[in-house]
Amino acid sequence: MKKIVVEGSHPLYGQLHVSGAKNSVLPLIAATLLADGVSTIDESPWLSDVDTMCRVLDHLGAKTNYQSARLSIDTATLNNNDPPSELVRNMRASFLIMGPLLARFGRIRISLPGGCAIGARPIDLHLKGFEAMGADIVLDQGYIEASAKRLHGAQIYLNFPSVGATENLIMAATLADGLTTIHNAAHEPEIIDLSNLLGVMGANIKGAGTNTIRIEGVGALAPATHTVIPDRIEAGSFMVMAAATGGELILNNVVPEHLRSLTVKLAEAGAQIEHSLDALHILGGASVLPVDIKTLPYPGFPTDMQAQMMALLTKASGSGTVTETVFENRFMHATELQKMGADIRINGNTAIINGVTKLHPAQVEATDLRAGAAMIIAAMMAEGVTEIGNIHHIERGYEDICGKLRSVGAKIDIIDV
Ligand code: UD1
Repeated sequence: MKKIVVEGSHPLYGQLHVSGAKNSVLPLIAATLLADGVSTIDESPWLSDVDTMCRVLDHLGAKTNYQSARLSIDTATLNNNDPPSELVRNMRASFLIMGPLLARFGRIRISLPGGCAIGARPIDLHLKGFEAMGADIVLDQGYIEASAKRLHGAQIYLNFPSVGATENLIMAATLADGLTTIHNAAHEPEIIDLSNLLGVMGANIKGAGTNTIRIEGVGALAPATHTVIPDRIEAGSFMVMAAATGGELILNNVVPEHLRSLTVKLAEAGAQIEHSLDALHILGGASVLPVDIKTLPYPGFPTDMQAQMMALLTKASGSGTVTETVFENRFMHATELQKMGADIRINGNTAIINGVTKLHPAQVEATDLRAGAAMIIAAMMAEGVTEIGNIHHIERGYEDICGKLRSVGAKIDIIDV
């Protein structure tokens, strides 16, 4: 079993290159299924989630190849549309192949998806959208069977701006007959990235990045080459680490605009932040000032950054709050932080964090991907050596995290126990 060990109280200093975005590359990989031939995704991070997605495509008959941040996917040899259930259950984002396969081949049988244990995470919005586009959907013993001779355009209203549903439905609509309009669509930068790739492939999409997206279906799409956007959550996690250790980092390969809500909160918490077009400089303050955050769909504060902010607030000079409105069960890291001496009280979907002067090391778990980053942050602020278990969650979404953090002065390693 592997663990991450962190010796605390070492400020981070130096420069880091931010990897391509996990949450972008996964839908981009799914989108390549819409065309026949070789597509290439540059600046792709190498993560266990990317590996899982590639294995799903390989199982479908595609040929995936990863070399030096370039992922190439040859879909000319696709020969089946029954993705392996053990992989789909392992990673929720693999469900994003449903839209492309249904649109292109008119049929798919796919297991209900898995993913981080952060709430019920239903898929009703995806399925209702496919049904509105003419698909027959049958749920049978943990599997979804969907079929449609040809999808048709539809008016779709999402009662929550789900990122995954918006992506799945955009992809399906690119090859549907006529116009699909998605109302109350997600605005996340990853939606724009996906739409940009689809546009190069020949899709006709208007309004990506707003809450109304219109997709006029076309007869066929062609393979394309695309560079994935920088990972705003990896960048954000590094920013919180700089603030937590009172260090100073320059992050290269960022889109500062994507980090605005976090930047505002970290500045309120005492950090100094400046940016150029694609780099960001953060200087941690002498102490952490308490702040209140509330997660919301983009451009609001990202739910994927709340665990890291909660870790930061454990040592604030006062009382801060974190309110989670996107997922209903995303405070599992609070229990782990309490093991290190954090003073956190949960009241419904709000966590009240009273800053303490010291965190002590402990044996803790990464309860999900971003909770894992939060534990690294807490361990960096603690006095002594903390051991973090369940690190496969962290490896799902942070590329070479120990190597990167060591290069800026962290005392962090992976050990086999
Ligand atoms: C994506 C991100 C994840 C991030 C989340 C919210 C990827 C690979 N993952 O996940 O890191 O935390 O966006 O920013 O991009 N919902 C429904 N019905 C549905 C779909 C969603 O009720 O059919 C609900 C979910 O339970 C949740 C909320 O909508 O409460 C947001 O989920 P969604 O935006 O779909 O998240 P994901 O796409 O799974």
